[in-house]
Amino acid sequence: MLSAANNELLGRVGPGTPMGELFRRYWLPAVIASELVADGDPVRLRILGEDLLAFRNSDGDVGIIEPYCAHKLAPLYFGRNEACGLRCTYHGWKFDINGRCVEMANAPAGDTYKDEIQLKHYPTQEWGGVIWIYMGPEELTPQLPQLEWARVNDDQRHLSRWLQRTNWCQGVEGEFDNSHVSFLHSWQDMSHFPNYLQEVIEAAQFDGAPQIEVKETDYGFITGARRRSPDTDQYHWMMSQWMMPTYSLVGNPGWPQGGRVWVPIDDYHTTCFAFAYHGERALTEAEVASIETGVAFPPRLEKGVFQLPDGYVLDTFLPTANRESNYLLDREVQQGINFTGIYGANEQDRSVQENMPSADGVPVGGLVDRTREHLVATDLPGVTLRRRMIQAAKALQKGEEPTLPQQGDLYHRRSPGQRLSTCATLESLLEDSAEADSKAEV
Ligand code: FES
Ligand SMILES: [Fe+2]
Repeated sequence: MLSAANNELLGRVGPGTPMGELFRRYWLPAVIASELVADGDPVRLRILGEDLLAFRNSDGDVGIIEPYCAHKLAPLYFGRNEACGLRCTYHGWKFDINGRCVEMANAPAGDTYKDEIQLKHYPTQEWGGVIWIYMGPEELTPQLPQLEWARVNDDQRHLSRWLQRTNWCQGVEGEFDNSHVSFLHSWQDMSHFPNYLQEVIEAAQFDGAPQIEVKETDYGFITGARRRSPDTDQYHWMMSQWMMPTYSLVGNPGWPQGGRVWVPIDDYHTTCFAFAYHGERALTEAEVASIETGVAFPPRLEKGVFQLPDGYVLDTFLPTANRESNYLLDREVQQGINFTGIYGANEQDRSVQENMPSADGVPVGGLVDRTREHLVATDLPGVTLRRRMIQAAKALQKGEEPTLPQQGDLYHRRSPGQRLSTCATLESLLEDSAEADSKAEV
């Protein structure tokens, strides 16, 4: 159980909040790089409670700027993306990727007022198929996190993103809540799954009360779920890593490996970025097709717009199994084919995570009222994650800067995945396995 004060601290991410400031010490994924084409459509974003507009100029460079024109606050989303700038359609002022006004079309020739006009903008980097944004103090600019999925060639990686209608923490803590895999994600009929997913589900279903261990590390933690396994006296281990503030590596039995990044939109909405990658070769067409069925991550998606409760519109990808469609729940399927009657793993996750009662009266996606929880031993990873983030946010309030943002190499990890072993403890498993939790060589 979390106190009401710590629950607030954990969940609130807007400008000036302790958790929002902690997030602003890290590079964060803002948009998938391929969404932005030179002179193409701008993309409306909100990150950590700030409304933003991303666009790629004629030279191929990306800017993320405030979304309203400095003249009379017309929305620049409707602007013309032309000749290395975004031109407001109201009176023709034009802005570059650094938010500078480069042309004041309705001012007399020679007028220098434009030189005083500057829209807010944030530094970006294009790397690993993602446009990253840094929203913190310039003098503390961090290193990019050297995640293996970002370091491999573009054809070795599959990226997706979508809207999750919850606070960031409701999403990310679900990644390390391994005992739910035995229930929420269980299936009786798995014939349509790729083999590796069948293995995962079968192992999870065999033992619904795994032994959960957490080993804290400098980047976050590694957690192992130990289960009894069918037809063998070995244990089945599933391992996942959490990397501060919001990355997961969720181990599969083999390639592709995958995980997510949960980037707060505001207190009640999150963009989930999913990655799947092969560490040694390009993904095959069949692997990509399998990823895109929506049976795991990402869910079934459509590109679209979403109006936030305050009216701001996001350009994002929307799950088709959602609150409005009741997650396409089929009660007959629930009786004989799977546990939930809902098709995809992320769709199953969102059906529970997006519909928890809020502590603050917000009808959709409010902060979960964690003062009402009754946690058990299997919740240890989520409790650890909350504690680490609350500690780091409080430390930052006292002036103690986190050191991880300046140590990008600490993110250079490969998931130990899933494996059978006679090792009874996570410590012995990690020692036993030379490559486990080792720095990936890419
Ligand atoms: S409001 Fe944009 S140019 Fe006038
Ligand atoms: Fe899940």
